[in-house]
Amino acid sequence: MERTKGYSKYRNDDEDRLSPWPFQFVLFDGWGMGIEYNEPNGHTDMLKDQLKIDAARKKAGGVCLTCKTPYAPELKERSRVDYFSKPYDEVWKEIPEKHREMGVVCADCHDPKTMDLRINRWTLIEALKAIGKDPDKLTRQELRSLVCAQCHVTYSIPKDRDNKSIGLLFPWKNGKWGNITIEAVIKQIKDENLREWKHKVTDQKIGHIRHPEFELFASPGSVHWAAGVACADCHMPYERVGKEKISSHRWESPLKKNMKACMQCHNQSPEWLKEQVLNIQDRVNHMFTKAGYSVARAALMVEAAEKNPRSDKTLIKKAKEIYEEAYYRNTWIGAENSMGFHNPPEALRVLGDALDQGRQAEMLAREAILKTGASPPEIDMARIDAIVAERYKTKDGKTGFKPVVKRKAALLTQK
Ligand code: HEC
Ligand code: HEC
Ligand code: HEC
Ligand code: HEC
Repeated sequence: MERTKGYSKYRNDDEDRLSPWPFQFVLFDGWGMGIEYNEPNGHTDMLKDQLKIDAARKKAGGVCLTCKTPYAPELKERSRVDYFSKPYDEVWKEIPEKHREMGVVCADCHDPKTMDLRINRWTLIEALKAIGKDPDKLTRQELRSLVCAQCHVTYSIPKDRDNKSIGLLFPWKNGKWGNITIEAVIKQIKDENLREWKHKVTDQKIGHIRHPEFELFASPGSVHWAAGVACADCHMPYERVGKEKISSHRWESPLKKNMKACMQCHNQSPEWLKEQVLNIQDRVNHMFTKAGYSVARAALMVEAAEKNPRSDKTLIKKAKEIYEEAYYRNTWIGAENSMGFHNPPEALRVLGDALDQGRQAEMLAREAILKTGASPPEIDMARIDAIVAERYKTKDGKTGFKPVVKRKAALLTQK
């Protein structure tokens, strides 16, 4: 797919989503994504993208294909639970050859006979039932968001004792329709121990949060959700083709088409609308940066405490628990792809909590060291950047921290 560069302040400028926010290397250390986390190439290329990247990201098995190929429901039917844990390449080979590089297709969102909108993925159907929303009674406007929620949501991969993937679910059941918060998601991750990977720096198993666009957008605080606006309104604006009006099937940032999507409802100028988006994103980025460094500082303080055999174990344990909470919150906004635009007040609320919890965890770990009579390390933003540049520096020019990439972590300061 042909792609426009440089349309957006926080997206797409360079093919790297870690280096612009260096603290993320500390938070993702141990996770496949910490190695390589590239800017995605859009719908048509997504399966190809997955084949291109490092094998570490395919480690989880066939389960990774669930959101990347339209054949997922069929593959799952055929191999049952094996589908999730079979090696990725094996499951991939079950996709008919000519479609092995195909991403999103019509049938993901449309009934092939009637072309009505429909949900094709069992994961979303199960998740809707879990929050008491009847998947057979959805309005057209709800479907204009829910077809996207088949993929633009967070999910968890339950593991067996040998860390093999045994399923895939959206951790929504403690939420409600129009109110799926990070707190609800964390509760399920903890209750069902949906911890998928080991964070090296704090030496503990932890869950993961992936792109929760639907959850953030469809939650309290979102003026557009409350007004009945759907994903398709902003990402699939109407286009005129001859006499017909059709919905754009390019799924891109509204900034790319000079805010045309917004102007279906708003009568302000494109400049004004773009400025509103940037004002929101700059503020959310400010808090994401503050919170992110606070959470990274906590991780590094825990690491320092663990290195000292005389540190207070109870305090370290408490620090790790709070770190886990802070990590989920920071990632809830960092992995969400709009830099807070989808729900600005909720994004700031969640980041405020992440910042506070990062501080709490850091204090506890400091205390654990102080009690031994030793002095804790001095860690500030500059120190974290230096640690990242040293520890995670790129080895092959492809993976790891790239100091040449433009930094986007930033605090707003009075001019
Ligand atoms: C990611 C979901 C998604 C995929 C994939 C998708 N569509 Fe759509 N499509 C939509 C949505 C949402 C609408 C708007 C429907 C509405 O408003 O009722 C739509 C509308 C349409 C319409 C009605 C006219 C219009 O544009 O509003 C046609 C025809 C259509 N799509 C054809 C296709 C074809 C053909 C494909 C495959 C090449 C496809 N769509 C793939 C989501 C999708
Ligand atoms: C079958 C899964 C799937 C469905 C359904 C789907 N998407 Fe996507 N979408 C993806 C993936 C995968 C990417 C690219 C990469 C990523 O974020 O990992 C993507 C990327 C995007 C992008 C960014 C494109 C760019 O230029 O980088 C937008 C915007 C988007 N989707 C909007 C939507 C909207 C709106 C809908 C519903 C009408 C929708 N998507 C439905 C999987 C899906
Ligand atoms: C009121 C308009 C609006 C609605 C509704 C909306 N979005 Fe967005 N979305 C935006 C804006 C603005 C951005 C930021 C784009 C940028 O930074 O370039 C964005 C960004 C994104 C991105 C990243 C785009 C990129 O270029 O990488 C994805 C993916 C996305 N939205 C998906 C969704 C999904 C899924 C829904 C529904 C759950 C949704 N959006 C609802 C306006 C909207
Ligand atoms: C389908 C209609 C629709 C679309 C498309 C839409 N909006 Fe809105 N927007 C609304 C409504 C309704 C409100 C509620 C306030 C109002 O009545 O003006 C609103 C409110 C806002 C607000 C004020 C938010 C607040 O917290 O009070 C901003 C800023 C905004 N929209 C920007 C955008 C931008 C930028 C886009 C495109 C990316 C966009 N809107 C797309 C309908 C829409």
